[in-house]
Amino acid sequence: MSATHEFGGNWTDEKLDNIRRYLIEYTKIFTSNEAASTFRTIYVDAFAGTGVRNSPKDSTNIPAPMFQDPEFIDQEAEDIRKGSARVALELDPGFDQYVFIEKRQGFVQELEKLKVSFPGKARKIRIIHGDANEVLQSWCASTNWKTHRAVAFLDPYGMEVEWQTINALADTKAVDLWLLFPLGQAVNRLLTRNGPPDGIWADKLTRMFGTSDWRDAFYKPRTQMSLFDDEEALEKIADFDMIGSFFVQRLKKSFAGVAENPRPLSNSKNVPIFLLCFASANPKGAPTAVRIAQHILRMH
Ligand SMILES: C[S@@+](CC[C@H](N)C(=O)[O-])C[C@H]1O[C@@H](n2cnc3c(N)ncnc32)[C@H](O)[C@@H]1O
Repeated sequence: MSATHEFGGNWTDEKLDNIRRYLIEYTKIFTSNEAASTFRTIYVDAFAGTGVRNSPKDSTNIPAPMFQDPEFIDQEAEDIRKGSARVALELDPGFDQYVFIEKRQGFVQELEKLKVSFPGKARKIRIIHGDANEVLQSWCASTNWKTHRAVAFLDPYGMEVEWQTINALADTKAVDLWLLFPLGQAVNRLLTRNGPPDGIWADKLTRMFGTSDWRDAFYKPRTQMSLFDDEEALEKIADFDMIGSFFVQRLKKSFAGVAENPRPLSNSKNVPIFLLCFASANPKGAPTAVRIAQHILRMH
């Protein structure tokens, strides 16, 4: 039996439509511009799924790592639609290489079938079964960035992406990054109202932001202390805007250019569950890349 993949809501259409539009513009530039066409292009999809997404009617197929808690999943109904891997493969002109990274063995087997669906591109497809953070970091280190340029799409369920990985992508000076930042899906919920989280939740936030500065940015001493408060209590001041801006500022420290208008992807209750962010690592290409991305992110 083939593994089905159920996730997302209407915001998933928005997300994939934005990625598709960017990939069209990107491949256009890299095939028509004389200087750009000397590079070999790679599309890397680090949380690749199966290539198809199904309606989440049967929740038994949803994997259950830390952020697969029902509380953290947006369960809006979906029909069978294309996933990001298929969206990328359908584009013409396409990329010189496609790298699909996926942790679940059953999904890897589904991804293999894409080679049959796209026989003309089969030899360009590389499917890697593994952890996105580990695979991306070694891929960044082993690719020749003098001859290659890439678009990376990081589409996790929650807080799986580590800052070290984002930094490795930035260090290539050659990768354009589209990333789903889990704004309301996970981060806002971890930032508990009555004082910052500690232990594994604090570590998780620090690994994702690449700094522990989130504590000072998102909490301040309580203004009204009771007579019984023996130490200074902290209260949350962060809202969605503040958390999103903090993350964009973090990206700006590492990348040559960052889109100023990440797109909130909201569920039917209008809660921004993710922020679709864009950053470009190549100093020469970043102004154009960011201009195109910002234009796409403004579209409805
Ligand atoms: C939101 S889905 C991606 C959907 C996909 N981009 C699409 O449009 O079809 C997240 C995927 O990441 C995979 N995943 C979760 N943690 C991972 C990790 N650490 N490394 C690689 N893949 C992971 C899950 O199995 C799942 O298929």
